[in-house]
Amino acid sequence: MNTAAEALLAEAQAVLNGAAPGRLSAEGDLRVGVDLGTAKMVLLVLDEGGRPLAGRLWPSQVVRDGLVVDFIGAVDRLRQMKAEVEAELERALPAAVSGYPPGVPAPERQAIAHVVQSAGMDCLDLIDEPSAANHVLGISDGAIVDVGGGTTGIAIIEGGQVVHSADEATGGTHFNLVIAGALDLTYEQAERLKETPGEQARLLGVVRPVMEKIGTIVNRHLAGWSVGRLHLVGGACAFPGMAEVISEVTGLPASVAPDPQLVTPLGLALGRPLAAGPSLLEAVADWSRS
Ligand SMILES: Nc1ncnc2c1ncn2[C@@H]1O[C@H](COP(=O)(O)OP(=O)(O)OP(=O)(O)O)[C@@H](O)[C@H]1O
Ligand SMILES: [Mg+2]
Repeated sequence: MNTAAEALLAEAQAVLNGAAPGRLSAEGDLRVGVDLGTAKMVLLVLDEGGRPLAGRLWPSQVVRDGLVVDFIGAVDRLRQMKAEVEAELERALPAAVSGYPPGVPAPERQAIAHVVQSAGMDCLDLIDEPSAANHVLGISDGAIVDVGGGTTGIAIIEGGQVVHSADEATGGTHFNLVIAGALDLTYEQAERLKETPGEQARLLGVVRPVMEKIGTIVNRHLAGWSVGRLHLVGGACAFPGMAEVISEVTGLPASVAPDPQLVTPLGLALGRPLAAGPSLLEAVADWSRS
């Protein structure tokens, strides 16, 4: 993965949830990305040059598989996140870019734009999530596997473009369910345990069958395509061992982006790459080298 993207992801992680208020001055236009996921909602703000300034990542249950299932709840939460970040930056957030998972039909995508607008921001663009992720990863050929809370998205990239994508219902939620079942915990207790670094090694045996199932889903969608490497993003890929198991099942090398949960939100905040000229990420690369 390119160093500019790694540096940006680390900065995005560092500014989340008020961790580094006032870190950089918020002069110039702001770039805002909004990711309405099945498990969490992310609002990420970058400065004009593309560097992360502030953000919020909150658990949320208002979207299922890209479909807004609780419109009022989604608007309320996004409005709260926006207000917190505005207070932190002492700047208004007038507009944002949002995204949708592969396979979400056009009318449903509009519901996502309506959430953003009803929360008080113009929705400047809606980008399909694998394209947003690839704006950060910069892959020219391979596949992006996005394992989120509810779903696994697979996107095949050729010549830097998404040429095929699909989404299937297995994700971090299923990790929680098998952990809860095996250890007799509630769903919430299982989720907390799963995300505790010191507990993950002993849970690998419990969650391995879910990882293997994700591998077989990936295999099914790769049939007929020539793919040399898998690039794993999405929060569920933060579980150590994911790349190894997926690689075993698919027979393909697999790597996990650092801070995999933030790749798509960062790509949305960066916005659609320009057709000509250096991308914002290339511009930021100059900064990360200095
Ligand atoms: N450090 C971690 N270790 C293991 N799992 C994690 C970690 N951090 C987050 N997760 C899991 O990642 C999932 C959320 O990932 P992500 O934010 O990519 O999903 P989403 O975008 O909300 O969902 P979807 O893409 O399915 O709509 C949750 O199941 C969460 O428990
Ligand atoms: Mg997601």
